[in-house]
Amino acid sequence: MIIFRQTYHARTMVGSEIQENVHRHFATTVGLITTNGRHGPNVMAAEWTMQVSYDPMLVAVFVHDSPTLWNIKETRVFGVNISSDGQSGLVNVAGGYSGTEIQKLEIPGTFKTYRAKRIDVPMIEGCVLDAECKVKSISKVGDHVMVIGEVLRARFDESRKPLIYTRGNYWKLAGKIPSGRKTIRITKSQMAEFKRMAAGQFVLKAAAAMVRKDSKTLFVRFGRSWTIPLVAVDRGKDYKSAIRAHLESVGIDAKVVKMLGIERSVFKDNKSSLRANIIVFECKLKSVRGSFAGNWLGEPPRNTVLKSLVRFA
Ligand SMILES: Cc1cc2nc3c(=O)[nH]c(=O)nc-3n(C[C@H](O)[C@H](O)[C@H](O)COP(=O)(O)O)c2cc1C
Repeated sequence: MIIFRQTYHARTMVGSEIQENVHRHFATTVGLITTNGRHGPNVMAAEWTMQVSYDPMLVAVFVHDSPTLWNIKETRVFGVNISSDGQSGLVNVAGGYSGTEIQKLEIPGTFKTYRAKRIDVPMIEGCVLDAECKVKSISKVGDHVMVIGEVLRARFDESRKPLIYTRGNYWKLAGKIPSGRKTIRITKSQMAEFKRMAAGQFVLKAAAAMVRKDSKTLFVRFGRSWTIPLVAVDRGKDYKSAIRAHLESVGIDAKVVKMLGIERSVFKDNKSSLRANIIVFECKLKSVRGSFAGNWLGEPPRNTVLKSLVRFA
């Protein structure tokens, strides 16, 4: 059963409070959208700028009725420049003035531009990513217009970090979040077996079974060591069915009762590592077949691989 507990800080909103608050709690990068048309060379800030397809590489920008949109409708091209964390001043200018008010790109000491190669649009120097886009579609969505562009040419600067916009302020990335995976040392031959199970995937995704009988647990052979029954699950396949079929293959007819938890770990031998996500199921023994190839034990044997899975018992 899942219990949702309302924490002390969480606030529920209704009515106009939704409009006032919801948008503030997304965290986005900010695109500097550049255009060039009858309304002059222009730049606007758009936090609603995102990649929406890999192949073709498509980028969506949501803009309101403004000189930026007018230029895009006229020329069918635009530049997407994802601002870096040193560019909050430029974002303020691009977002704080309209092209109807002032030629933003000409304010001294602000934007450094270069000419795009595939489209006739100024691009902004100093961003993390610049993409030259050709319009694929323009459609109205709510109170904004969704412009989807295909990326014709792009350049990126890995030395710069993106500017983040949330709750009305600009932020820097604070650092990478540790993976939270438990490191498990394994032998070279165990690594070879796990890599075989992973079949070239970056993460071994597997299901494991805790099958209990008279306060004993089922262990099966894993090379020269032991494990609770464990099977790699192919992408998109149902985990419950996979573990049930695997148990059958070792001679056990069992009902898969419920999930006990997930173990996210990284296996390491002397040379390499492999990430693994294992979902452990509680299984109820129905019958054992003649071909049964396991062992019922009170304690995991000393040479049990992934001994920590037994903690779910
Ligand atoms: C951080 C920030 C993000 C913004 N994001 C968007 C956006 O996603 N879509 C939009 O239509 N306007 C957005 N704006 C407002 C436009 O940048 C602003 O209206 C700008 O003046 C439009 O430029 P233009 O009138 O020269 O086309 C944003 C403004 C700021 C400061």
